[in-house]
Amino acid sequence: MLQTPFQLGSLELPSNVFCAPLAGCSDLPFRKMTTSFKPGLVYCEMVKMDALVRYDPHTFRYLDYEPGMHPIGAQLCGSKPQYAAQCAKIVESLGFDVIDLNCGCPVDKVTKDGSGSGLLKNPKVIGDIISEMVAAVKIPVTVKVRIGWDSQSINAPEITRIAEAAGAKAICVHGRTRAQGYAGPANWDYIRACKQEARTIKVIANGDIFDANSAVKIFSHTGCDAILVARGTFGQPWIIEDIYRALSGLDPIVRSGIDYRDSLLQHLEYVICYQSERKAMLDMRRIGCWYLKNIIGAKKLREALNKSKTIVEVRDLIMSYPWAEAAFKTQPEEAEAATCEC
Ligand SMILES: Cc1cc2nc3c(=O)[nH]c(=O)nc-3n(C[C@H](O)[C@H](O)[C@H](O)COP(=O)(O)O)c2cc1C
Repeated sequence: MLQTPFQLGSLELPSNVFCAPLAGCSDLPFRKMTTSFKPGLVYCEMVKMDALVRYDPHTFRYLDYEPGMHPIGAQLCGSKPQYAAQCAKIVESLGFDVIDLNCGCPVDKVTKDGSGSGLLKNPKVIGDIISEMVAAVKIPVTVKVRIGWDSQSINAPEITRIAEAAGAKAICVHGRTRAQGYAGPANWDYIRACKQEARTIKVIANGDIFDANSAVKIFSHTGCDAILVARGTFGQPWIIEDIYRALSGLDPIVRSGIDYRDSLLQHLEYVICYQSERKAMLDMRRIGCWYLKNIIGAKKLREALNKSKTIVEVRDLIMSYPWAEAAFKTQPEEAEAATCEC
């Protein structure tokens, strides 16, 4: 299968298909699932710079990884350039291959101090934070943005130039505004506009890659150098393999109900090994919802999983479901992915 190596500064990544940072979702068990399909790079969920400099233990747990997960990136969220160098050094010392700056989180409690997509209103600070990080570490620095705060203030192409001048090696562009949240389609035209602005900085396209076909389309539509798959990995970690196959002109592998069952059980085992039983039960609700969302008639199992009280009960419910007879919806429920308790 064809995988295009991707040069990020001095780092050679094995491919140009990446897995996104997903707060509350892309924890260690989740990344064990996606990295088994060999993405070019996988990001941990965002961590707050303020918490990292305080050495908050919960924050460090978000950065747990295993040796087999390389190449791996950490993502920092914050708006204070004075913390950037220290945070970048911490991330580098933990063995990460890449550091990313979050300029996309739309949540009010994040944007209110100018962090996340709040930085889109202050592009100079984006440049300042990136410059501090680049000067502090040897590993490549990337930045992830939305196309603008709202449709009246699209500025991702301008930020592409600023990030390049500050020394970032890649900019990942999510084709939605902050005002959009996750609603409506991503606008890939603005990702193309960023690629046209870029001289040396690599452009990573993101938004609405839910299957192999959309991955092929976003490459040709935007002319991007790499792609980042986000909600498309929910309940189908093999999407990375599907994309490699499609990019190589190979036919897709048809996944059966049994494949879904085995993947769900594997994900469950990883969660049990990593979390307390209470937390594992909560996580299973979300994870079960992802794997079952496209299976016709699986609502009852989903509801039963949500009500179950023990891991033993969860395993029994999964094992007694007639997976071999599972039929799939023809239109995958993309929007539902965003509402699955994340
Ligand atoms: C539950 C959830 C958590 C997310 N957490 C992060 C995050 O920690 N950092 C980040 O840069 N983007 C985060 N995102 C945004 C995604 O990485 C991605 O940009 C977005 O979902 C668009 O891609 P998609 O349409 O293919 O899902 C999150 C998205 C979702 C749905």
